[in-house]
Amino acid sequence: MAPFGGAESVLAFSAVKLCVIGTGYVGLVTGTCFAATGQRVVCVDKDASKIERLKRFEIPIFEPGLEEMVKEQAASGRLTFTTDLAAAVRDVDLAFIAVGTPPTHDGEADLSAVFAVAQSLAEHATHDLVIVMKSTVPVGTNAQVQKLIAGAKHDIQVASNPEFLKEGGAINDFMYPDRIVIGVRPGHDRARRLMDRVYHPLNLSNTKIVWMNPESAEVTKYAANTMLAMRISFMNELAVLCEEVGADVQSVRMGVGSDPRIGPQFLHAGPGYGGSCFPKDVKALVAVARRHGIELELADATNRVNVRHRSFVVRKLKKQFGAELQGKRVALWGLAFKPGTDDIRESPSITTIEFLLNEGCEVVGHDPEAMGNIKEMFGDSIKLVDDAYDAVVDADALILLTEWREYQYPEFERIAELMRTRVVLDGRNIWVAYKLGEQGFDYDGVGIQSDTV
Ligand SMILES: NC(=O)c1ccc[n+]([C@@H]2O[C@H](COP(=O)([O-])OP(=O)(O)OC[C@H]3O[C@@H](n4cnc5c(N)ncnc54)[C@H](O)[C@@H]3O)[C@@H](O)[C@H]2O)c1
Repeated sequence: MAPFGGAESVLAFSAVKLCVIGTGYVGLVTGTCFAATGQRVVCVDKDASKIERLKRFEIPIFEPGLEEMVKEQAASGRLTFTTDLAAAVRDVDLAFIAVGTPPTHDGEADLSAVFAVAQSLAEHATHDLVIVMKSTVPVGTNAQVQKLIAGAKHDIQVASNPEFLKEGGAINDFMYPDRIVIGVRPGHDRARRLMDRVYHPLNLSNTKIVWMNPESAEVTKYAANTMLAMRISFMNELAVLCEEVGADVQSVRMGVGSDPRIGPQFLHAGPGYGGSCFPKDVKALVAVARRHGIELELADATNRVNVRHRSFVVRKLKKQFGAELQGKRVALWGLAFKPGTDDIRESPSITTIEFLLNEGCEVVGHDPEAMGNIKEMFGDSIKLVDDAYDAVVDADALILLTEWREYQYPEFERIAELMRTRVVLDGRNIWVAYKLGEQGFDYDGVGIQSDTV
């Protein structure tokens, strides 16, 4: 199909007017990046304080490069912020839904915010509209939304456009995507044309968009995250085997990852996967399949392995100190679920802190960006320090959970002097090469032979 034809061709050279509902990690990046490509964007959120802060160019999340970009786009007039969804939808052709879809107690995705926003959009639309599902939603949601808004006064087509950005590198991922997955129904030509137009600046090579039906787009998003999570869980299981049999999981990773059919990514053993996406998406895929009478056993096992693996820190500490951890002072470096973000949702640091507090340990944490969020969650039950070295003062053990750049080459002589007991547990295997065992540390990692390092 030609992207623009007939009367549309006149419009093809004007900016697309769109709104993004939900101004979190995905919505704010989506809105800002679309504005940077020349489109006119209104970002909407129900959180009035967030919108007020954004109007003052205060970015509620940490995402490298985002603050400058928001300032620039807002100053250009292409990016505005509001809590008023009814006003925002009045003047737009596309409305992206980017609200959260957190897990319910049985692992399904909670779609209440998605449905509420879709209903509101249908109610307040003053002309034909395309709703775009940017939030991660289980297969069948697009159809449910289309049904929900069936009585709307105007023609509303619902497209599915799952987001694949990674926190910490979100702008680059959005502006230079590997692929843009778009699901539209046969006959929804307006949706297809508008999606083609809005993504045109990111698709100049004409190779990025993968068109499919909405159900396929919905499954694609969950399949991608589950496959990545599966690789991590498999390596974490192999790490346990490696420790037992004298193998080194790092060597195994390089050995298998150099096979181009396998590739090197997402094969690092560590403290278990976390974040706002993998844990909830794996569980939601299992749950939606179950609803259809299908057991996705690999996906289910991926989640179980991850949950079990989370206790590895305490298991290792007990190996070091014996069963009694009461009163041990433990320094934690890295609280965000990965470097480059302040996001702590499902971060391995949370379960680690809970385990340690349960054992009666005193926990002192440091993170370049995530301490505010951890403070909100744990209050005064753990101590947080601004300088990473203050965390190791009189510590019985140092545990590294997130491989921020500033932890990659620390001053180990200084650490040795400050610690009470020189036990180092490297949850990311980033210090293996430093031979800390030879420098008087009791060093251990994940899936490596501690007596050789
Ligand atoms: N964070 C990621 O890395 C990532 C990547 C890809 C996809 N996703 C998916 O994108 C979606 C959003 O994720 P996020 O991390 O940006 O979430 P988030 O929690 O950071 O942001 C969601 C925002 O939606 C707002 N909101 C909730 N209900 C609303 C309503 N009724 N009206 C207006 N605003 C409302 C909240 O106030 C919040 O600001 C989720 O489905 C997630 O799975 C996230």
